[in-house]
Amino acid sequence: MKNFTYAITTVVHFGKGQIEKLGAEVASCSSRVLMVYGGGSIKRNGVYDGAVAQLRAHGVEWAELPGVEPNPRISTVREGIRLCREKGLDGILALGGGSVIDCSKAIAAGALYDGDPWDFPAGRAAPEKALPLFTVLTMAATGSEMDNIAVISNPDSNEKEAFGAPCCLPAVSILDPSYTCSLPASQTAAGTADIMSHTLENYFSPIETNYLADNMAEAILRACVLYGPKAIEVPDDYDARANLMWCASWAINGFLDMGKPVGWSVHRMEHELSAFYDVTHGVGLAILTPNWMRYVLSEQTEARFARYGEAVWGLDRALPQREKAEAAIQKTRAFFNSLGLPATLTEVGIDSTHFAEMARKARTANFDRTFVPLSVEDIQEIYKMSL
Ligand code: NZQ
Ligand code: ZN
Repeated sequence: MKNFTYAITTVVHFGKGQIEKLGAEVASCSSRVLMVYGGGSIKRNGVYDGAVAQLRAHGVEWAELPGVEPNPRISTVREGIRLCREKGLDGILALGGGSVIDCSKAIAAGALYDGDPWDFPAGRAAPEKALPLFTVLTMAATGSEMDNIAVISNPDSNEKEAFGAPCCLPAVSILDPSYTCSLPASQTAAGTADIMSHTLENYFSPIETNYLADNMAEAILRACVLYGPKAIEVPDDYDARANLMWCASWAINGFLDMGKPVGWSVHRMEHELSAFYDVTHGVGLAILTPNWMRYVLSEQTEARFARYGEAVWGLDRALPQREKAEAAIQKTRAFFNSLGLPATLTEVGIDSTHFAEMARKARTANFDRTFVPLSVEDIQEIYKMSL
C-alpha cells in the first residue's frame, strides 16, 4: 500500500430530522450567509422551510441565490460571489444536490479570491481559503457533501472542469435521507449510476493493493444494486434512501482510493458530453461505463472484471474467467437499463459531430495512469461504441 494522509473533516449529521442541528452549526461560525439553491425542489419538499426556521431561531441573517442549474454555470458562481461581497456575507448554506453544493464551493472560494473564479476549474489557480460551507443534501449521487471537489461548466466555451482544494470541504453536512424521497425516478436512477461510477473508477485501478478499500467498494456496489431499484419502486422507502445516501458519500470521499494509484477514465469522458450537450451527469456515465468496460477488457484485465462479477453480481465462481468478465459487463448494462436509464448517446440526442474534439479535450495526462491508459483515438472509439 502507498503512503497516504486521510483528513475528511466534514461533520455529518445523518438521519431524519437532523436539520434541527443546522442553526447552531451555522451560528457557531457565521452570522450572515448566502443561501444557495436550485430550481425550486427545496420549496416543495420542506427543506427551504426547515432551513429558514433554523436560521431564524439562531439569529442568522441570509441572502438568497436561487436558480443554480444542473451542471452549474460559472456565471451563477460569479453572481454568488458578487452577492457575498455586496452584502458582507461570512458563510454559504447550500440546499440541494451536487450542482448546488459544487456551485457553493466555487462561491465560497471565489469570494476570498482576487481573480476570476474560472481560474479554479481552468487550473490557473488553486483555492487557498474559502468561506465556511454548510450543506443540506437533497440527492444521493455526487458525494459533494463530503468531498472537496467542485465541477463547474462554462457553456460559452463548451467546457466542464473540476477543481478541488481542502478549504472547499463542507464544514457541516446535514444528510436526511427523507429529503430524497421527492426525487423523480429518473434522478434516483442517475444518482445511483453516479455512485456506482465513482466506486468503479476507484475499484478498477492499475494495482490492487488495498484489501479494505476493494471490499468496501464491492459492498457499495452491492448496496446500489439492491437499493437503487427499491428507491425507484417505492420512492419513500427510507432504508433504501438512507443506504443510497451514505454510499454516495463514501464512494468519493477519498477512502476508496487510499493507498493505491487511481486514475479516473469514464468521468473525464462524461464531462465532455455534459460540456457539449448539457446531459445529466449520471445518464452520461450509465451510457459510457459498459462500453468503456468492453473496450478495456483484455487478457490483462479480465481477472479484475471476473472478481467484480462474482462479488457484485453473484456470478458462479466456476465459470471460466473470460466468460465471467463478459457476463459482469452485460450485468452492468442490464442493470442500468432496468433503472430506466438510456443506453445510447443517440437516445439523448448526441451524434458523432464533436467526438474528435471531445476526445481531444477529454484526454488529459491523467489517462497515462488509468486502469488501462487510453489515447485520444481510444476515447473516440468508446464514444462511437456508445452511439
Ligand atoms: O434544481 P432543483 O429544483 O433542486 O432540482 C434538482 C435538479 O433538477 C433535482 N433535485 C435534487 N434534489 C431533489 C430534486 N428534485 C426533487 N427532490 C429532490 N430531493 O434534481 C436535479 C439534478 O440535481 P443536481 O444537483 O444537478 O444533481 P447531482 O446531485 O447529480 O449533481 C450533478 C452535478 O455534480 C457534478 C456533476 O458533474 C454535475 O455537474 N459532480 C460533482 C462531483 C463532486 N462534487 O465531487 C463529482 C461527480 O462525479 C460529478 O461530476
Ligand atoms: Zn460522478
